[in-house]
Order: sequence, then structure tokens, then C-alpha cells
Amino acid sequence: MPLLHLENISRSYKSGQIQVSALNGIDLSIEKGDFVSIMGPSGSGKSTLLNIIGCLDLPTSGTYTIEGRQVEKLNDGQLADIRNKLIGFVFQSFHLLPNLTALENVELPLIYLGIWGKERKKRAESALASVGLDHRTKHYPSQLSGGEKQRVAIARAIVTNPAVILADEPTGALDSQSGENIMNIFRKLNEETGITIVQVTHERNIALYGHKIYHLLDGSIERIEDIRDDTR
Ligand SMILES: Nc1ncnc2c1ncn2[C@@H]1O[C@H](COP(=O)(O)OP(=O)(O)O)[C@@H](O)[C@H]1O
Ligand SMILES: [Mg+2]
Repeated sequence: MPLLHLENISRSYKSGQIQVSALNGIDLSIEKGDFVSIMGPSGSGKSTLLNIIGCLDLPTSGTYTIEGRQVEKLNDGQLADIRNKLIGFVFQSFHLLPNLTALENVELPLIYLGIWGKERKKRAESALASVGLDHRTKHYPSQLSGGEKQRVAIARAIVTNPAVILADEPTGALDSQSGENIMNIFRKLNEETGITIVQVTHERNIALYGHKIYHLLDGSIERIEDIRDDTR
């Protein structure tokens, strides 16, 4: 059974009289341990698809199953539970809280899981160490470079040991060297811990870090590209 399974997923938005179709009949299966890139022009539905995969949004029609649970049948509390336990989010603009240190930002998801005291601190420190930031735990976001902020965001995403990292344009706000550093962290996490990664990007060199590229066009999967090891 795949970790994530989308069948004939569509999502449309109504604004006034106009119906905008963001996704049209997406079929997609992602196995545990996959590293998948989603590419496509602006407006092709990439963020909509990632938000549905992350249970931040629900499809208008179709079925979506995550770890065997059918998302359409879950209530808000159960959806929040899936987001907290199974999914780590990484965003283009980091979404760190400015008045918390790096360590406190990484501890935050553990507070929601009810993990306290030394255990929480230890886990946050170890997540920061796994992205090479053990020397920055007491820094505030404003004292960190863009690449470092994104590494804190990745530590925050993995600190709960989720099944999957969902990243929407994770290198979009970074210079190309910092972007490559972030991809090397994703690759290492994927290879060493087996965490599943689904990332959206419009940069081909970033997409090539994945095992597979799904090309979206006008809300449909236009083409699936397999990336062979020797081209990476
Ligand atoms: N909340 C919304 N309300 C209305 N239309 C939306 C909304 N979110 C996205 N759309 C539309 O859906 C389409 C896909 O958007 P999006 O998934 O953000 O594309 P991408 O991330 O590939 O740029 C676009 O036409 C966009 O305008
Ligand atoms: Mg987008």
C-alpha cells in the first residue's frame, strides 16, 4: 500500500460567478521513501496539490488516502492529528516565529504533541544537529542567513519524526548555493532516515534531486519523468 494515494482528485474554486479549476483528475501514488518533485508553470496547481496532500485543503472530488486513512472521511480533529504526526511542512518563506530562538522554533511542534522538559529540548537539539546547526541554537531568525533559516525550518519539520516532508518552493527565496545545500540536506535525510519527500519547485536543477518529476500543466499531470541515478 502506498503511503499517499490520490485518485481522480479535482479541486475547483468559486469566486463570484466564475468557477476556477485548479486541479483536474489527478492520479498519484507515492511510496514510503520516495523523493518526488512537482514542477509546472505558475498557476498550474502545484501549491493546491501540495496543500491537499498536506491535509491543509480538501479536494472537491476524488479520494485521497494517507497511510490507509481516507481523508474525506475524517473530521477536523483527525485531520489536525494527521498534520501534526505524519507531516512536516517547509515553506518558501520559512515561517519561523521571529521572537523565538532557533531551538524554541524547533520545539514548537513538540509542544503540540505534549512533549515536555528535557526530552523536548533534547529532540529539538538533535534535529538542529542533523541539519548542521548545533552552533546556532540560541540565535533568533533575524540573526540567521536565509539558508540557515530554512535549515531551522527543516529541523522543525522533522523533529516529530513525520512520515513525509512537504516543501513548497523550499529554495525559492535562496541563492543557488544555499539552495543546493538545502537539497543536499533533503537527499541525506531521505537516504539515511527513509523519510518521504514531496517538493514543489520550478527550478529544474532543484527538481533533479528527486527520484521522479511530476510535470503539472493546467491542473493535470502532463508527464512523469524518472530520474536515473547516473543523471543525479
Ligand atoms: N483560494 C483560491 N481561490 C481562488 N482561486 C485559487 C485559490 N488558490 C488557487 N487558485 C487558483 O488555482 C490555480 C492554481 O493555483 P496554485 O495551486 O497556487 O498554482 P501554482 O502553485 O502552481 O502557482 C490558479 O489559477 C489560482 O489562481
Ligand atoms: Mg505555488
